[in-house]
Amino acid sequence: MSQAAKYAVCPELYAILQQVHKETMVDVPRLDNLHKSVSYAMDAHLPGAFVECGVWRGGCSMLMALTAMARGDCSRDIYLYDTFAGMTEPTPEDQGFNGKDAARTWREQQREDHNEWCYAPPGTRPTEHAQNRL
Ligand SMILES: C[S@@+](CC[C@H](N)C(=O)[O-])C[C@H]1O[C@@H](n2cnc3c(N)ncnc32)[C@H](O)[C@@H]1O
Repeated sequence: MSQAAKYAVCPELYAILQQVHKETMVDVPRLDNLHKSVSYAMDAHLPGAFVECGVWRGGCSMLMALTAMARGDCSRDIYLYDTFAGMTEPTPEDQGFNGKDAARTWREQQREDHNEWCYAPPGTRPTEHAQNRL
C-alpha cells in the first residue's frame, strides 16, 4: 500500500486501507476524503444512513463501516447499490471529459455473459466477503 505512505494518511486510515485497498479502484487521496467526510458526520452526530451508488467490490463501503466501527458506533445503516454485472450500456450522452466515447469502451469490454468494465465477479462482491472482513 505504497500510496498510503506517499500521501501520509493518518494512522486510523492507514490501518483501514490495509483491509480495503484491494476491494476498491478509488485512489488514496479520494479515500482520504471519504474517511474525513465519514469521520465528520460521525463526530458531529449528523443523523442518517451512508449510501454508496456503484460499489464494485465494496472497498469504499467497507471504509465507511470500518470508520464507524473505529468510533464504536455501528448503529448506522449502510446501503450498497450496484448492477453487480458491470457497467450498463452507455447512451450517446455518456462521453468522457476527454471526449472518449464510453460506448466504444463498453463494446470492447463486452463478453459473452457480462461486460468486463467494472465487473465484480461472484466471489468478489461485497455481500460475499464482508462477513469475513468486518
Ligand atoms: C467505477 S466503479 C465504482 C468503484 C467503487 N466505488 C470502488 O470503490 O471501487 C462503478 C460501479 O458502478 C456500477 N454501475 C454502473 N452503472 C450502474 C447502474 N446504472 N446501476 C447500478 N450500478 C451501476 C458498476 O457495476 C461499477 O461497480
